[in-house]
Amino acid sequence: MRMYDLIMKKRNGADLTKEEINFMISEYTAGKIPDYQMSAMMMAIYFQGMNEEETAALTIAMANSGDMLDLSAIGGTKVDKHSTGGVGDKTSIALGPMVASCGVKIAKMSGRGLGHTGGTIDKLESFEGFSTGISSKHFIDQVNRIGISIMGQTLDLAPADKKLYALRDVTATVDNMSLIASSIMSKKLASGADAIVLDVKTGSGAFMKKEEDAFTLAKEMVTLGKHAGRKTVAVVSDMDQPLGFAVGNALEVKEAIETLQGNGPKDFVKLCMTLGSQMVVAGGKADTLEQAEEMLARAIEEGTALRKLAEFVEAQGGNPAAVYDTSLLPQAAIVEEICSEKEGYIEKIVCDEIGICSLILGGGRETKESEIDLSVGLVLHKKVGDYVRVGESLATIHANDEKKLGVAKERFLKAYTFCDKQIEKSDFIKGIVQ
Ligand code: URA
Repeated sequence: MRMYDLIMKKRNGADLTKEEINFMISEYTAGKIPDYQMSAMMMAIYFQGMNEEETAALTIAMANSGDMLDLSAIGGTKVDKHSTGGVGDKTSIALGPMVASCGVKIAKMSGRGLGHTGGTIDKLESFEGFSTGISSKHFIDQVNRIGISIMGQTLDLAPADKKLYALRDVTATVDNMSLIASSIMSKKLASGADAIVLDVKTGSGAFMKKEEDAFTLAKEMVTLGKHAGRKTVAVVSDMDQPLGFAVGNALEVKEAIETLQGNGPKDFVKLCMTLGSQMVVAGGKADTLEQAEEMLARAIEEGTALRKLAEFVEAQGGNPAAVYDTSLLPQAAIVEEICSEKEGYIEKIVCDEIGICSLILGGGRETKESEIDLSVGLVLHKKVGDYVRVGESLATIHANDEKKLGVAKERFLKAYTFCDKQIEKSDFIKGIVQ
């Protein structure tokens, strides 16, 4: 088999066989196919597309290209959750303990943040001493003991995707539905869970700006999960403005804690309940979504979810006292209000700009090697549809550097658009694909 022939075949619009896709992925992972040939193939796929069978074969080939996490030592159904990424997305930190306290096993691998979206691992490190660099044995033992563990990507999961994603990023071939779906699902399949609940974001802060594209992606990923024998469901949710109010690592942890105390923002609580009920049903702990929602609500009311978070933090070396006293989380030296210069109803917030403000303050990474400041970020007070007067606070900004604060503040104010008439708020949950 020759890569040249495969490129020509796809370029001319023919379908690749499973054997051809396996050859291409294994040889590329082994460094035997050069980046320039794979770039040409990605561009051919970008223009010619891939059918369902090709996409499934690509996903499986990438999932099999490295380590596969073996969770068979954990009893019961293991459920994973994955978000396509957004601004203020602290979901796993509240949702994991909520679902685990309903008896579902959460064995999750999470990543760090890059660019304007944050990563769960960074956020969790707001608990002093918390370590995600634990061994697979520690990870599995902890899930068996307390029902939840989140580890960093220490294993080499789907290395073919890692290589391919870096290549697509610089060859304008990221935004192809089949390539995105197979990239995400290959990593999920290698992570070993029996059931996968996907949170597909749509809007200005999301990868999929258009709702119809988010649904297409959701359907492709659900089909891929089912093909691979995993129970898979996708929730399509709004990311046209930040999720909840807090954006920034420790600030988001604080908001997740408040949510477990029963004081969470409405949109965030809705998301946790929607994803959580799917996870509890997929994990076999409830027969219906309604029953699952009741269990989750009880876990918050009775404090079991909050205690589960403290138990989880302690099991990974973090200080559990911070769960009950959030002043122990990293705090920024400068805390100021950002006041509105305009009056009216908020029509739009350019969501990724708010993520960039947090990045500018030091809360995100410009490159993989950047050190991040866990204490900085923003807490919004006004969201789309709210009425604001001149001088009223739009947000509180937390910073450690006056210069960065100035730049972020200016950018923040430009992200808001106002109008005269009250606007209709769109549904936060756009739909569920299963
Ligand atoms: N996230 C991924 O992991 N892969 C993509 O292709 C796009 C987003």
